Amino acid sequence: MINVEASILAADFARLGEQAQEAEVAGVDGIQVDVMDGRFVPNITFGPGVVQALRPLIRVKLEADLMIVKPELHIGAFADAGADRIIVHLEACLHPYRVVQSIRDLGIEAGVAIAPGTPVSAVVELLDAVDLVQVMTVNPGWGGQPFLHDQLRKIDHLRRVLEERNLNIPIGVDGGINLATASAAVGAGATVLVSGSGIYNDNASVAENVASLRAQVALQSPWTQRPGL
Ligand code: DX5
Repeated sequence: MINVEASILAADFARLGEQAQEAEVAGVDGIQVDVMDGRFVPNITFGPGVVQALRPLIRVKLEADLMIVKPELHIGAFADAGADRIIVHLEACLHPYRVVQSIRDLGIEAGVAIAPGTPVSAVVELLDAVDLVQVMTVNPGWGGQPFLHDQLRKIDHLRRVLEERNLNIPIGVDGGINLATASAAVGAGATVLVSGSGIYNDNASVAENVASLRAQVALQSPWTQRPGL
């Protein structure tokens, strides 16, 4: 099944707990906390305290997406706060292999994200050391940006590399994922859809938006479930 995760970057910051619970009740598979430091990306958002505050409120996967410089300095704090998965951005890591190893050494899942300008070839040597690769389909830093369609080719390429290596790990996509783009992303090979403004918006309720997103991709089977993988 295709996983859907709600990014609380688009939620009401005055009601983060309620909004995370709303997404869980709506049936998301995870909650993504977009951590931004104003250096790796222009925006500043949340710290480990938000993960710690949300942890007791939800049972689904709680994921910290660290859009920060020197993420290795903060992995322990996010793991202690209760993150089930920590995603680091390749471009922020001097020694990415060691960083993802250190996440796994804490007993939680390690993800690596690549920005629109970073090729699949840059993460090939990490594929055996991570539990998820996240393809950014916007430039990291802000929610509500338009989906970058030229990243579909990259998602497809990454899927083919994973298939060739018989690596059955999820491909996440993050940025501009909504009813207009989800199906194309899944068709290219995405198996985890991270959506912020596609779930938290004034057009419909969180429950309606999650249901619509799921319905949009319901007839598409994840490539990871193909026989032989
Ligand atoms: C970008 C952020 C956003 C967020 C989702 O740095 O990572 O992609 O998760 O935002 P939307 O779904 O509004 O593009």
